[in-house]
Amino acid sequence: MHKPAASLLATLAAAALAAGASAAEPDWGKVAARKVTVFYPGVSPMEWILKGTEHGGARGMRKGEACTGCHEDETADMGKRIVSGQKLEPAPIKGKAAAIPVSVQAAHDGANLYLRFSWKQPAASGAAKQDADNQVKLAFMLEENRIEGVPTGGCWAACHADARTMPGAKDDKKTKYVVGGSLGGKYFDLLQWKAKGKPSDGYVADRRVADGGKALVSASGRLAGDTWTVTFTRKLSGGEGDVALAPGKSYNFGFAIHDDWSNGRFHHVSLGYTLGIDAKADITAAKQ
Ligand code: HEC
Repeated sequence: MHKPAASLLATLAAAALAAGASAAEPDWGKVAARKVTVFYPGVSPMEWILKGTEHGGARGMRKGEACTGCHEDETADMGKRIVSGQKLEPAPIKGKAAAIPVSVQAAHDGANLYLRFSWKQPAASGAAKQDADNQVKLAFMLEENRIEGVPTGGCWAACHADARTMPGAKDDKKTKYVVGGSLGGKYFDLLQWKAKGKPSDGYVADRRVADGGKALVSASGRLAGDTWTVTFTRKLSGGEGDVALAPGKSYNFGFAIHDDWSNGRFHHVSLGYTLGIDAKADITAAKQ
């Protein structure tokens, strides 16, 4: 007579254990959201950024000012000037979004980092699909203050004029890279979710490597109504090309959305931000 009750209890205990051991997303309703407006950057590689004759911010950058210090509140207007072809875009795509406001949330549970991005799907341009498989992709990069220029310039440190899809680029295999980059220290951790394809966990050092990382647990995304929500679960620890994350520390963080079936440089990007693990930063992942 006691037997069924005991085995039921055992089953419940086992289920509770299993749930505790596996990654469970936090209660997002309790996590503050930081608004970050990603914008269309056109052709604005690091070489353009630092060339004093072309970019008004070059001098300030050399003095250590960050992109966000000058531009954080105007990325939507920058995107408009660029996407229209008024500036920095030799091949404008009609109807492409200038900028996308994104809500970013982060939390951790001592074992995993959880990141959540949500945004309203902009109108489609109707242009030819560059990536016929994926309507949308979202990538983020992490870096631990080892690459020169990243605390101020974010992902731009990996964005160069000779990368594929840049006008006049000669090598269509050349992706983003870090000058002097190596897995020994100067690299960005790079994770990407794709609407259709498998998510990837790689890095950017002297070249971009799409896979091989050990930190990504899962990435998923869905469109509900007109709103996309993309969530990553990533171990705090990691392997080769993964930035190991520790409570009390903060890391350089940036992300990009490939909207409207786009590829390569035709993405919307964030300026450089910081992500803190239980540490004060632009975006803080607090323990839940
Ligand atoms: C010290 C302030 C300052 C900093 C720091 C700075 N910029 Fe600028 N940026 C400017 C000014 C001023 C302009 C407008 C005039 C021009 O084009 O030179 C500008 C223009 C631009 C433009 C062209 C679009 C537009 O609206 O004119 C882009 C793109 C841009 N900056 C990106 C960046 C990025 C990315 C960084 C960091 C890697 C950065 N800037 C850092 C001051 C700055």
